[in-house]
Amino acid sequence: MEHTLVLVKPDGVRRNLCGTILARYEAKGLTISALKLMQVPRELAEKHYAEHAEKPFFGELVDFITSGPVLAMVLSGENAVAVVRQLNGATNPLEAVPGSIRGDFGLAINENVVHASDAVATAQREIALWFPEFTE
Ligand code: PPS
Repeated sequence: MEHTLVLVKPDGVRRNLCGTILARYEAKGLTISALKLMQVPRELAEKHYAEHAEKPFFGELVDFITSGPVLAMVLSGENAVAVVRQLNGATNPLEAVPGSIRGDFGLAINENVVHASDAVATAQREIALWFPEFTE
């Protein structure tokens, strides 16, 4: 069983898309193993995006993810990391195919509705960060 971290970002929560997005993951066969609606402390946001610290848009990333509540979750299932990335679609909504979450609901790269771990090792790091209490 594989686990991945998914965030419905502040734009998705603000637009009341949580139920629609969760339904897609569940319909695919993934299990919600942990779930919480939370305001993101700045320190957590900076740790989450630490690998982008040198990028010009780092400040924008942190400002955005802390701009309103996010729905954080651990999704589990066979190949959960790759399956969720496929459901989410490309990072840039302009490149995400229709039928994917970003392809259907995203408009711009800085407000792309969802975040998901990009690899199994990243998922382990991100789950430990967002759900320190999580155990398999
Ligand atoms: S990169 O450059 O390949 O490392 O970027 P990527 O892994 O695709 O994206 C990492 C997160 O950065 C966001 N992003 C941006 N935000 C604002 N402006 C620009 N230009 C930009 N480019 C990428 C992107 O939405 C990713 O957010 P998360 O939350 O990780 O999905």
